[in-house]
This record gives sequence, structure tokens and C-alpha cells, in this order.
Amino acid sequence: MENLHNIRKVYQKSELVEDQVKESPFEMFKLWLDDAKNDADVAEFTAMNVSTIDEDACPRTRVILLKEFSEEGFVFYTNYNSKKGISIASNPKACLHFFWPSQERQITIKAVLEKTSAAESDLYFYSRPRGSQLGAIVSPQSSVIPGRDFLRERLEEVEKKFEDKKIQRPPYWGGYMAKPYEIEFWQGRPNRLHDRLVYYRTEEGDWRIERLAP
Ligand SMILES: Cc1cc2nc3c(=O)[nH]c(=O)nc-3n(C[C@H](O)[C@H](O)[C@H](O)COP(=O)(O)O)c2cc1C
Repeated sequence: MENLHNIRKVYQKSELVEDQVKESPFEMFKLWLDDAKNDADVAEFTAMNVSTIDEDACPRTRVILLKEFSEEGFVFYTNYNSKKGISIASNPKACLHFFWPSQERQITIKAVLEKTSAAESDLYFYSRPRGSQLGAIVSPQSSVIPGRDFLRERLEEVEKKFEDKKIQRPPYWGGYMAKPYEIEFWQGRPNRLHDRLVYYRTEEGDWRIERLAP
């Protein structure tokens, strides 16, 4: 058995204290996202884990890129017929999770997902490079396929079909807006006594902040 008992890091880069945090979790999120963006050691600062609940009640997590965020929520794009799409149709709750190791920070967001409007999905779809647009049509995301050739052949077909034509966004591809009701900011600290501040959305639509033990 591989023993990893002695693998550990001391977290001491920063701190998260009540009198410095923003009232709005979205402002906090923006600060931390900007820090990650400006950190050359963060390879993909918009990459997040998105967990949904499968039909067997087990969570499933995959990496997705965050594409927009505002006071309304966090938006990502995907295939509505994928495993995640099927899970979301029966349980629209999801957990979004960012971990930026060099920042010694994680953010955990519990949210309810809603599909973005067709107009919003169009806006992003048509902003993507043509190759990515074709990819969305070629790949029946999460379905079993006979082999790599299937994708190559479909790509050739679709390229021929849309030669010199605008590629239409398929109706099964679009965005989800994750509307958060709980957002935790975690900052690593020495002796495993990390900072954890959680914003809970109140019935009035404000945010209540609480500190959790690490
Ligand atoms: C860095 C990275 C970024 C990704 N971004 C997306 C994305 O924006 N949308 C997407 O549908 N899949 C994205 N994927 C692929 C997903 O992780 C996943 O494999 C795919 O969405 C199928 O998931 P599902 O079968 O659980 O529905 C990304 C993967 C990685 C590693």
C-alpha cells in the first residue's frame, strides 16, 4: 500500500477575517476569482467542479468552465442530454466547487440550477470558435459510442452539412444558471486552523455570514 501520511503542506498565504469580508458573496467571489486570474500558478482559474445527484442518489462530479457570473448566479454551458443534464432535470440542485491550490483557497457553492434562455445560450454558442460549435453537434455527450471513428465520421458529415453555412445551436446544448443559496469561502491557515466563512441567503434575500470550525 502506498503510504501518503507524511504528505502535507503548511497553509499560510493569507487569512479571512470578518471585518475584511464583503457584505455580498458575489463581491467576495469577484475578489477571489481576480486573485486566481492574476496568479500565474493557477492554470485554469475558471475551472470548477460541478456535482449533481445521479438517479441512484450518488453525487457525480465533473470539471466545467464558469462562463459568466453576476448577482443572479453562475453560468456554465453544456449538453442538456448529458448525464449531468439528465440528473439536473430530476434534481436541479448542484454544488459548484473551486479549488485554487496556490491561493490556498476553496469556494463551495450550493445552488439551484435553471436553464438559461435560448437567447443567452445563442449568444455564447455563436461566440465560440467554429470547431467548438461543430463539436457540440458531433458529440452525443455521455452516450456510449462504438469508437473514436464515430466522432471523426460525424465531424466529416457535419462539416459537409454546414459548409459555408451558419452552424445552428442545437436545442439540446445551452447554459445553466446556478442560483446560489449558500457560499462558503475557505482560506488555509497554519496548524489546520483554517478560516471558513459561509454566506447563507435569508428569506428576505440578504446574506447572513457565519464562521465554521475548520
Ligand atoms: C478543464 C475542463 C473543462 C471542461 N469544461 C466543460 C464545459 O464547460 N462544459 C461541459 O459540458 N464539459 C466540460 N468538461 C468536460 C466535463 O468534465 C465532463 O466530462 C462532461 O461535461 C460530461 O459530463 P457528464 O457525463 O457527467 O454529464 C470540461 C473538462 C475539463 C477537464
